[in-house]
Amino acid sequence: MSTTVVGKPKALTAEEFAERMLGSVLGFMEVFGVYLGDRLGWYAALRAQGPMTSTELAAATGTHERYAREWLEQQAVSGILLAEGADAWGRRFTLPEAVAEVLTDESSLAFMAPAGRMLVAACANPSALLDAYRTGGGVSWEQLGLAAGEAQAAMNRPWFEQRLPAALQGTPHLDRALSGRGARVAEVGFGGGWASISIARTYPGLRVDGFEVDAASVEMATRNAEAAGVTDRVSFHLVGGAEIGEQAAYDAVFAFECVHDMPHPVEVLAAMRRAARPGAPVVVMDEAVKETFTAPGDELERMMYGFSLAVCLPDGMSSPGSSGTGTVMRPSVLEGYARRAGYDHLDVLPIEDFGFFRFYQLHQ
Ligand SMILES: C[S@@+](CC[C@H](N)C(=O)[O-])C[C@H]1O[C@@H](n2cnc3c(N)ncnc32)[C@H](O)[C@@H]1O
Repeated sequence: MSTTVVGKPKALTAEEFAERMLGSVLGFMEVFGVYLGDRLGWYAALRAQGPMTSTELAAATGTHERYAREWLEQQAVSGILLAEGADAWGRRFTLPEAVAEVLTDESSLAFMAPAGRMLVAACANPSALLDAYRTGGGVSWEQLGLAAGEAQAAMNRPWFEQRLPAALQGTPHLDRALSGRGARVAEVGFGGGWASISIARTYPGLRVDGFEVDAASVEMATRNAEAAGVTDRVSFHLVGGAEIGEQAAYDAVFAFECVHDMPHPVEVLAAMRRAARPGAPVVVMDEAVKETFTAPGDELERMMYGFSLAVCLPDGMSSPGSSGTGTVMRPSVLEGYARRAGYDHLDVLPIEDFGFFRFYQLHQ
């Protein structure tokens, strides 16, 4: 008889693991420092005004010099900012251009500041999380607060604006479905609305209806659509994905990075199926996690389990009778939901990105 050992972990010594933990603690502290610099406008000021002393930075941002100095020194010691000068008050700090892109350029695909915002928002109420873990309850998107919704929207915005258009145009049957004059598109779980806005900009002949359960997200997305000048063709509704009223009405139906958050994904997928015209594509974009559980896992798996612990699973569990999916929704799990929702099968579409997302098409 043979025994299969799945992903036998490399046994670390206590010393090795303590070293790894030290690295993680430093990483946690750096994320917190980045959060402060992002939210207090310190990176933005350094980027706009060039090298500054702590006194100049505090004056430029309406913050306190003593805190600004501690932060600047921490950032320089951590190798994020460059420091010049021996005297604490005369020392000037520079934000290198490459770091500025990652921390301040909201249009860059490398923009990472929202990850810090999301992690701080997720950890802001540890007692609610601990309580949920003990009772099987949840912490809803609404309880996490607007900061989490805004961070999620900001995290995905560059991809939706810069990569989604080419992904759709480069997939002939999706491009055909969206190109028809007067085509109608539905998006479920739109968050900040950037995917719908990007689709509307890419295909000027179509109209989009968005369906979302979170009122703050509907307001945020509506503001974003107004600023983008697309409200004549994009409407965001405070209506859950399972409650889409129209049947056989849409030429394409999308759900971007949200099915794994849904307490009742089967009901939503079934409503998406009914809302699509016969033959219209129903597309789910979700995390590109591995087909099967493998431990130890790669960075993507570690990141998705991390988000799941703090955000997606507690959010999904915040409704009674939840499926409790979590961020790590493997293809077989989605396939099971799709079959129960009345689909025949699903395909993975050949859409490339950084490796974070996978596009599934669900067939009736
Ligand atoms: C992780 S966010 C993704 C938002 C957006 N699609 C994006 O990629 O940035 C998940 C979103 O799904 C929404 N959501 C969860 N359950 C839903 C449902 N049943 N119907 C519609 N939206 C839902 C949440 O309110 C949240 O805005």
